[in-house]
Amino acid sequence: MTAQDTPSGAGIELRGIAKRYAESVALAGLDLRIEPGEFVSLLGPSGSGKTTTLHILAGLLAPDAGRILIGGRDVTDVSPDQRGIAMVFQNYALYPHMTVERNLAFPLRASGRNLGTAEISRRVAAVAETLGIGHLLERYPREISGGQQQRVALGRAMVRDPGVFLLDEPLSNLDARLRLRMRHDLKALHLRLRSTIVYVTHDQSEAMSLSDRIAIYQSGLLQQYATPMEIYRRPANLFVANFMGDREMNIFEGEVIADGAHQTFRAGTLRLAFPDGGPWAGFAGRKLALGVRPEGVLLGARPDAVACQARLRLVEHAGAEQIFFAETDGAEFCGKAGPDLPLRPGEMVPLSLLGAELYLFDAASGQALVHGGVPLP
Ligand SMILES: Nc1ncnc2c1ncn2[C@@H]1O[C@H](COP(=O)(O)OP(=O)(O)OP(=O)(O)O)[C@@H](O)[C@H]1O
Ligand SMILES: [Mg+2]
Repeated sequence: MTAQDTPSGAGIELRGIAKRYAESVALAGLDLRIEPGEFVSLLGPSGSGKTTTLHILAGLLAPDAGRILIGGRDVTDVSPDQRGIAMVFQNYALYPHMTVERNLAFPLRASGRNLGTAEISRRVAAVAETLGIGHLLERYPREISGGQQQRVALGRAMVRDPGVFLLDEPLSNLDARLRLRMRHDLKALHLRLRSTIVYVTHDQSEAMSLSDRIAIYQSGLLQQYATPMEIYRRPANLFVANFMGDREMNIFEGEVIADGAHQTFRAGTLRLAFPDGGPWAGFAGRKLALGVRPEGVLLGARPDAVACQARLRLVEHAGAEQIFFAETDGAEFCGKAGPDLPLRPGEMVPLSLLGAELYLFDAASGQALVHGGVPLP
């Protein structure tokens, strides 16, 4: 694949896509717009509708309602092979009896486009070069590693120069290290090719590191569609806030008690005094969930923070930092500390919940009300 015959990726638009199976609604009116050349991840728990979306995009499944546009063309009734897309499945299923070269050439031979042998070889060689698998062409799939097999599967999708790649959990069969390597390679490849990629995963860190934008699903409904940082810093609701981040957000259900100029958060017997001057008084009298990510829970006294004393229960060393769990009044806080601080389970420690890291959600609807100490309009 050379620069000039690489198509710039095609844009995608899903309009009001609905799909139900016998007893479950897989997608309930999905609207999604993906710009040409964008890397978009579909992220959500098992059964939330990610694969269904991908299959509808690919044309393997017909929606009950809605339209699909690729490159501005309505392809809702167009067969899969005419949509200009290539799909890489989770179990990448290489043909075991074919060499890597034959596996790569297969889509070109099967496409009925009557490409000459020389043209097929040229394209296979170019893709193999791009993916760094040129030295493996004569081997059989069983003779190469999992990561190399994954690259062959990707190459098989690339040979046809599709405007859109659909990848369904393509790294899930790989061990943790290799997964990180392939993640890096995939990102570099996307930077180079600028094809449109729709990437299904239920791994939030994978989505965060790879994507231009992330679409977060829950039960067939889109919860938020935004850049990774936007989703991390400004989660639309409790579900999104909890789903993003390598550790769960600390969440306390309770209410704001306003006493003159001072406001306190009360959750059971837990009392947390807010720093003065925040937006907290405006939320008195509602059932709320107060959230703070572990990186917002630190040891020691800090300005503009909620302070409390808690008993250290458990400490995990994570190389560059320590993750600690501390309890007070029936509430548990997960926080982070530097790697060298001596921390002994059982001891009492002063905690600070940074004001700029505090989130507030409506407890009933989950809707976000305050992001990082700032109320939403
Ligand atoms: N062929 C089918 N028949 C009946 N129900 C199905 C079928 N395929 C999917 N579903 C249901 O549709 C919903 C969405 O499934 P989908 O495969 O899109 O989820 P997913 O987000 O890809 O999940 P996972 O992360 O487990 O792959 C689920 O409730 C699932 O049980
Ligand atoms: Mg799936």
